[in-house]
Amino acid sequence: MPMNHFYDLSEVDFDSVARLSARALELRRRVKPRRFEGRALGLLFMDPSLRTQSSFQRAAALLGLDLVHLAGNVWNLETELGVKMNQDKAEHVKEAARVLGRYVDVLGVRSFAKSKDREKELQDPLVRGFMQYAGVPVINLESVRFHPCQALADRVTLDQIHMSKRAKFVLTWAYHPKPLPVAVPNSTLLMAAQRGMDVVLLHPEGYDLEPEIVNRARELAKQAGGSFEVTHDREAAIRGASAVYAKSWGCLAHFCDPATEATLRAPLEHWQVTSEWFGKARADAVFMHCLPVRRNVVVSDAVIDSRNSIIIEQAENRLWAQTAVLEEMLSAHGDHGVRTHVMSEEESR
Ligand code: CP
Repeated sequence: MPMNHFYDLSEVDFDSVARLSARALELRRRVKPRRFEGRALGLLFMDPSLRTQSSFQRAAALLGLDLVHLAGNVWNLETELGVKMNQDKAEHVKEAARVLGRYVDVLGVRSFAKSKDREKELQDPLVRGFMQYAGVPVINLESVRFHPCQALADRVTLDQIHMSKRAKFVLTWAYHPKPLPVAVPNSTLLMAAQRGMDVVLLHPEGYDLEPEIVNRARELAKQAGGSFEVTHDREAAIRGASAVYAKSWGCLAHFCDPATEATLRAPLEHWQVTSEWFGKARADAVFMHCLPVRRNVVVSDAVIDSRNSIIIEQAENRLWAQTAVLEEMLSAHGDHGVRTHVMSEEESR
C-alpha cells in the first residue's frame, strides 16, 4: 500500500490484505465509511455481471461518489500497438483509458477471454492497457487471469466466520457445460494460500492451472505458514475439509479449441458437489462458490441450500470488501476531482 491499482490480490502484502478484510468487516457492522463527495468512480463492463455491477454501484453510493457506469454499447477496443485498425476494433485502449481517466478518480474494468490467442490473452492486455494509460488507479473487475474483488470478499468471509488459519481449504474443479475462465480459481487459490491455510487444489487430469500460479500459491502458503498440494483424488481431498470451494474452469491446453475441450470435459459430469461427497468433509465444513452457479450441475440443491452453504455471505461481502478498497485507494490518491489537463502553449497551437 498505497495501492496504485487493484489487479491481483496476491500482489498486495499480507498485512494490507488483513487490514482491508478487517475494515470490510467493520463496514459490514455498519461503521460509517469515509465520504468522497465530488469524486467519481468509473465502471466499464465489457462482459456480463450481476454482483460486481450492483455491489460497486452500492459502494459508490455509500462513499458519496458520482458514478460513470458503462455496460454494453461500448466501442470494441484495440489493445495492440502499431496495428492498422481497419477491422472490428473502433477505438484504441490508449484513447479510451486516457479519456475515462479525465472523468473519474478511480476506474474499474471487466474483460474476459475471447479464446483466440492464449499467450496474448493471459497477459490481460485490456485491463493492463487501462492500468498503463488511464492516469488514475484501476480496479480489476475480473480479467482473463484474476478476480481480486471476489478473492478479497472470500477472504473477508473466511475471517468473518473465524475459520482457523490451518483449516483444510479445498478448491475443487466442478463440471460445467462450458469452458469457464480461470480468473476465479487463480485468485481463490492464491487468497487461501496467502491466508496460510492448508490448501488442496483438486481437479481432473488435464485441468491444471498455469504452473506460475500453482508455484506462486505453493510459495505463498509456505511464507504464510500453511501448506499446499495438488491432487486428482476426490476421496482423499474431501476428508477433513473445512472449506470446499467449487469452481469450474476450462482446460488451458485447449484454450482456443472449444470442440476438443468439450470432448475432454464430457465424461466429467460426476465432478459435482453432491451431499454424498460433501458429507465426507467435516460436519461443520462450509460450501463456497463465487456465483453465478448452475444448480445440480456444479452443486446439488441439497448442498447449496444447506446450513453449510455460505454463498450469500460471500456475495454480500463483495460490497464491504470493495467499499474498503475504494476507501483506501481514494484516501491514498488525494482529492483530484475531474482531471482537467492544462495544455501547454505548444499543445494548444
Ligand atoms: N462473482 C461475480 O463476479 O459475479 P458477477 O459475474 O455476477 O459479477
